[in-house]
Amino acid sequence: MGKGHQDKIAVITGAATGIGQRYAVRLAEEGVDIAVADIGDAAETVSLVEKAGRTARGYLCDVTSPESVAAMAESAMSDFGRCDILINNAGIYPNVPFEDISFDDWRRVMSINLDSLFLTAKQFVPGMKERGWGRMVNVSSSTLATPVTGYVHYVSSKGGVVGFTRALASDLAPHGITVNAVSPSLVPTTGTMLTEPRTEERFQMIANFQAIKQVQQADDVVGTVAFLTSDDATFVTGQTIYVDGGWVRA
Ligand SMILES: NC(=O)c1ccc[n+]([C@@H]2O[C@H](COP(=O)([O-])OP(=O)(O)OC[C@H]3O[C@@H](n4cnc5c(N)ncnc54)[C@H](O)[C@@H]3O)[C@@H](O)[C@H]2O)c1
Repeated sequence: MGKGHQDKIAVITGAATGIGQRYAVRLAEEGVDIAVADIGDAAETVSLVEKAGRTARGYLCDVTSPESVAAMAESAMSDFGRCDILINNAGIYPNVPFEDISFDDWRRVMSINLDSLFLTAKQFVPGMKERGWGRMVNVSSSTLATPVTGYVHYVSSKGGVVGFTRALASDLAPHGITVNAVSPSLVPTTGTMLTEPRTEERFQMIANFQAIKQVQQADDVVGTVAFLTSDDATFVTGQTIYVDGGWVRA
């Protein structure tokens, strides 16, 4: 059982599927109840969390919309009473050459991957401050520090995630709130399937850049998120942890 996790409440964006769903299940196994904020139906995640013995609810929410995020926060607070742990995981990663990225494409990626962090933090940080305890984990990407092509908007947004994490960590440290980021390598999910060539070769090609030359799976990331949201990580803040098999060796 994670130190300090028992009976905490986590809000996880984009946890209806993919890696976010695995964060939800892992935190549930640690004793955390889960609010899923997703534009898609979270029924599968709710059922998995319940199988792990905890309560979960799904909230249809577009993380780019201030109104939608505020409505989600109001419902989650009414159902669960508070948010102790916020995981900003919702994201998209269209792979498009720079010359084909429109301004609308750019804005959409920045909005889902970066504006959303501002919007959710605005909703949930005040309560964390009142209680003097909070954990935020934001999701960046190792594409930020590696020579992949076709991700100018994505990498820009994920660089913003790192900056947001560092800056907010300073603001919130006096209030017992830590703010960190995790940075995975390439993990096969429905998202990657939609935007990357769906071949074993592509996944293995990225894996070969890693020190650990296996294709990363979602469950390879969850332990670090469990640690960062626990009491064991009280003195860790403002960090981006590369959970990427050693692709980035900083
Ligand atoms: N899979 C990878 O290879 C990989 C690598 C590094 C970082 N990441 C990051 O991890 C996160 C999760 O990736 P994934 O592969 O699990 O993606 P995914 O596509 O499998 O899941 C993303 C989830 O976000 C939700 N979502 C999308 N737009 C939304 C919106 N506007 N409002 C609310 N929810 C929305 C989707 O419905 C979905 O449930 C993303 O931030 C991604 O950038 C993924």
